[in-house]
This record gives sequence, structure tokens and C-alpha cells, in this order.
Amino acid sequence: MKILGIESSCDETAAAIIEDGKKILANVVSSSKELHNKTGGVIPEVAAREQVKCMIPVLNETIHQCSNVTMENIDAIAVTVGPGLIGSLLVGVETAKTIAYVDNKPIIPVNHIFAHIYANFLDVAKEPEFPAIALVVSGGHTELFYMKNRKDLKWIGGTLDDAAGEAFDKTARLLGLVYPGGPAIAAAADKFNIKHSTFNINLPRPMLDSKDLNFSFSGLKAAVMREVNRLKLVKQLNNELIQQLSFEIQEAITDILVVKTLRAAKENHVKSILIGGGVAANKRLKEKLNAQCSIYNIFIPPPKLCTDNAAVIAGYAYFHYRPIAWKKIQAQPDLEVEV
Ligand code: KG4
Ligand code: ZN
Repeated sequence: MKILGIESSCDETAAAIIEDGKKILANVVSSSKELHNKTGGVIPEVAAREQVKCMIPVLNETIHQCSNVTMENIDAIAVTVGPGLIGSLLVGVETAKTIAYVDNKPIIPVNHIFAHIYANFLDVAKEPEFPAIALVVSGGHTELFYMKNRKDLKWIGGTLDDAAGEAFDKTARLLGLVYPGGPAIAAAADKFNIKHSTFNINLPRPMLDSKDLNFSFSGLKAAVMREVNRLKLVKQLNNELIQQLSFEIQEAITDILVVKTLRAAKENHVKSILIGGGVAANKRLKEKLNAQCSIYNIFIPPPKLCTDNAAVIAGYAYFHYRPIAWKKIQAQPDLEVEV
């Protein structure tokens, strides 16, 4: 079964064609990140206007990438209905509904957060064994799920305030780094040489020892703000200090993610750990998971499938094939993840 996926929940416009939830036949992503670099975050109106421009070219390119596939060979359409920015979601949702109506195709509404997990089934040599723990770490979400099998997901914990990606983005902004903050912090942290450490910085790891499976990152952001203000008073916030702070921020966020994921895996006696979402592209997170969770099979998608894309939307729809009438499909910016 070939599913055409469409994704436009934040600053990406994406389409993909996936066969049987596993094989990527085409995967096209157009991002408006550059436009948001200057403003330090996504301006919803700017993102949506760009998506209106990009949607048709992205769809054309997606069909073009599969030489022997036409719309006639597409079995269904899958579209992100939420959570996300309303203007952005509407672009994808209305496009998908139009295609479903005109070409008379079944259409499946998809929750973007669940979909991130399904990157772990795309073009893989070895499939995850179940039960599994799935951690979704994106710009707006940090959620843990227990997966009995590919179809059965249960939410078991999440952030009480900021998401991990948001912590990267907001602290990067405090340091004067570009949006998105995750890759910017990771790049600055890579340049930090511990031997040249010039200042004593100790960032907190909120809720690390709490017995539940919840997260909190807003205290970390506040601590970084205090450090930045303190350092500005006594020193210039020069490149070396920015690199050291970036290193400490990355250490703190990845420590929290690894400890909680490991706790979830132990408590639920699982075989595998699956990671998804933009923050899963972080190399230090991968290193720590591999070092500290080695008794589990760890699955982390390649960076291109961690950040927003439509391949995961079509992949999810294959395993949760529940088409509904196109008239009933609606953008749902506040779609919940607690199932
Ligand atoms: O999943 P995603 O592309 O979009 C949302 O659904 O939000 O995730 C975006 C988030 C941003 O917060 C971004 O800073 C973060 O993922 N991110 C990273 C890295 N690449 C993207 N965080 C840490 N390290 C990275 N390499
Ligand atoms: Zn996402």
C-alpha cells in the first residue's frame, strides 16, 4: 500500500510517499527556518505564508521523485491534523482534503507527535522488538509512551512545562545563538574544550530524582538566564563562555532525557527504546543512550527523519489505518497526546 503523507504543523512543508509503512519512495521537506533565524523563533504568520507558496512545488517534487508512481497508484492520503500552529496546519489539511476529494482517495488524520515514533520503522535493516518505550522529543513536546506493539501506544509521562527542544531553543536565544537552538547549541558545545574551562558553571537537572516519568525544563532555562546575567556582569559573554554554557546545557538536557527514559524502560521491562523528534538528532543524546541503556535495543532514526517530515506521517497512517470522510477532517492545534 502506497500512502502520500503531508506535513505542515510548524515551519516545514513536507510530502512523502511510503510503501507499507516501511519503504521510503519519496521524501521532500522544504523549511522556512532561514526566515526565522533573525527573529529567534517561528513567526506563525510568516511560516504559514511560506507554506502556501511551497505546498504545490513540494507535492510535485514528491511525485517526480517516484518515476513509476502517479496519483492513480496512491492508495491513501495521510495528513498531520495537530498539534501545531493553526495557520500552518490549515495549509496541509486543506491541501490533503482537496486531493482526497478530487482523486477520491481515503484520508487518514494523523497526530504529529505519535508519528515521530514511526521514523524507527522506515528503511531499517532490523525492526524494533516489543514491548518498547518510545520517547518523543520535539520543539513543543517531551513525551514517553509504552508500546505493546506497533499499534498500541500508551502515554506514561511527559513534560510539566517546557519541552526539551524548547529548552534548547530558549537557552540558545539567551546566548545569542540562531534558531533552531538545538543544532546551534550542539555545534557550539562541540567546540568546547574542557581543559580550557574558564568558569565554574553548574546547571540543575530538574526532577532527575523524582520517582515519576515526568520532566521539567523551565528551571534549567531560568538557571541559564541567571548564569548569563552573572557572567555579563563580571566578564564579557565571549565565544569561549558561550561554548562552555552550550556544553553544560546539552549535558543537562541529555542527562534528564536519558535517566527518565532508562527508568521507564526498567519499570516496564521492555526490549527496545525508540526515540523520535528533532532533539533525537542530537549526537550527545545518542552517545549517552548507547552508553547507559546498552541492555536495550536502541533505535534512533537518521537526523533527516528525526526533524519534521511527512515520511513519518504516512508511516504512522499505515499502521493506524483509520480513514475518515474528508469533510470531517479538521486542523486541531491543541491535539492531545495522552492516550
Ligand atoms: O520535531 P521537530 O523537527 O519539530 C517539532 O515537532 O517541534 O523538532 C524541532 C526541535 C527544535 O527545538 C530544535 O532545536 C530541536 O528539535 N533540534 C535539536 C537538534 N536538531 C533539532 N536539538 C538538539 N540537537 C539537535 N541536533
Ligand atoms: Zn515534530
